[in-house]
Amino acid sequence: MIVSFLLIVPVTLCAPEKHHKKAQTYEVEENHNVTVEWCFSSRVDVSVASLKIHCLLTPELKVFYHLDQSVKEPQHQQFSGRVHCDVDALGAGRVRLHLSRARTEDSGQYLCRMSTGFGRKVNEFWLNVTAAADRLKPVLPPPQPSGRHRIFLCLCLVLPVAAVVVLVSRLCCSSDSP
Ligand SMILES: *[C@@H]1O[C@H](CO)[C@@H](O)[C@H](O)[C@H]1NC(C)=O
Ligand SMILES: *[C@@H]1O[C@H](CO)[C@@H](O)[C@H](O)[C@H]1NC(C)=O
Repeated sequence: MIVSFLLIVPVTLCAPEKHHKKAQTYEVEENHNVTVEWCFSSRVDVSVASLKIHCLLTPELKVFYHLDQSVKEPQHQQFSGRVHCDVDALGAGRVRLHLSRARTEDSGQYLCRMSTGFGRKVNEFWLNVTAAADRLKPVLPPPQPSGRHRIFLCLCLVLPVAAVVVLVSRLCCSSDSP
């Protein structure tokens, strides 16, 4: 009884879904962090070295995350420096990716292909990044030119005009004179 209980526990903790369930949707406000997570293996002895993960944002097929010791594939610059994979979770059969400072253009459908020594798996999820609510943004008054700035602005406008007037009048005078 106890033995069977112990045997069942790791499987129930991380059982890849047998049936195709509805793709998970993650909602996040822009500039916030979001963690996407799914289970790809019920094994607790996953070799991270032989693991391959390839995640794309569709339909443009931008590389969101790529893990493959044999093939280097550059991550799309949109995600550069913003995706962090939890390696400890990988060893326990879970993919856990942290995306920081979410942008509205990160929204869309993501497809991830995984390959372990034991088989392949595809996972799909949606990310919905909502624009930061306008009401939360501080409403700043338009900058008012201070007195000193106004004088500076006046000088900037008046001096060149005055210089041109002086120059033109001098030129006129010199051409008039015999
Ligand atoms: C978001 O993630 C970044 C980098 O992982 C971290 O420095 C920052 O503290 C996180 N922000 C929040 C609100 O959790
Ligand atoms: C994304 O969020 C917005 C606002 O909450 C909602 O109207 C829209 O239906 C969501 N889209 C998806 C694909 O979940």
